[in-house]
Amino acid sequence: MKLSKLLFGMAACALTAAPLTTLAQQPIVIKFSHVVAHDTPKGLAAEYFAKRAGELTKGKAKVEVYANSTLYKDKEEMEALQLGAVQMLAPSLAKFGPLGVKEFELFDLPYVFDNYNELHRVTQGPVGASLLKKLEPKGVTGLAFWDNGFKSFSANTPIKSPADLKGKKMRIQSSKVLEEQIRALSALPQVMAFSEVYQALQTGVVDGTENPISNLYTQKMFEVQKHLTLTEHGYLGYAVVVNKKFWEGLPADVRGQLEAAMKEATTYANKIAKEQNDKDLEAVKKSGKTQVYVPSAAEKLAFKKALAPVHVKMESRIGKDLLQSVYKETGFDPNKL
Ligand code: LMR
Repeated sequence: MKLSKLLFGMAACALTAAPLTTLAQQPIVIKFSHVVAHDTPKGLAAEYFAKRAGELTKGKAKVEVYANSTLYKDKEEMEALQLGAVQMLAPSLAKFGPLGVKEFELFDLPYVFDNYNELHRVTQGPVGASLLKKLEPKGVTGLAFWDNGFKSFSANTPIKSPADLKGKKMRIQSSKVLEEQIRALSALPQVMAFSEVYQALQTGVVDGTENPISNLYTQKMFEVQKHLTLTEHGYLGYAVVVNKKFWEGLPADVRGQLEAAMKEATTYANKIAKEQNDKDLEAVKKSGKTQVYVPSAAEKLAFKKALAPVHVKMESRIGKDLLQSVYKETGFDPNKL
């Protein structure tokens, strides 16, 4: 990360952390940085939170949302949060490994959730709460889980079976589970910041990728991918996180109002996520630029079978007990396909 950018952010943070008595008229500024477009589940929920935070705190807190990697890219944003240069983020659950919280990668396991209901049993239940607690020793407080949706594979050649991805360079997020998933298809995983994916696809640096449709559409990846198969093989969602020191230093009444705003924003995020993805799928189809293929039940089963070994291989990384508690909620069993 550029030093000047970081110092600027830290100076802003120091200002916002000043005692309220000396800054009675100044709102507490919360910079909320993220990497996706405004009109995505995360982008819209961030704006919603900003609005409600302003209203519920009666202007005492001001949330500034920076979308589309305009402030920080993937890896930078996590560092910036820990350093206090930015106060709030909502990184994908696949991006917490580099922070040292590899348990979050359970959400990357192929086909572990069949639908949003199964997912919510984990994110909105005791397992989700225990996961957020794991962030505390890293100087990060987890506030909520926000949905995006289920990922599908895209490339420039048709994808009907796992063999169709063999040898392809596939862009992934920074998750060991995703790396293993791509290897299970005999393809080549390429970790890359989200902001660089469109160009990498356009220039052929990578051949394909995996995304919920909202990301494929709003980043215009569909313009540079001729084929999309609705494999829906994995989930992509977010943990909304804040700098712990900043959060705990807030006046208790403001923190309580922000928590209330976050609760509302979470309900909103998880309501619109599917709608946005469905809407964007229609737009992708209408564009005529990407051929959208719906796999048959047998074709989907072939993907499930090819990817099941990822669960076994990643068991020790995620933790056997944690994995079992997730399977208990979702009913998934990698040995019974
Ligand atoms: C990605 O890098 O593909 C996603 O994590 C982007 C996002 O935040 O949805």
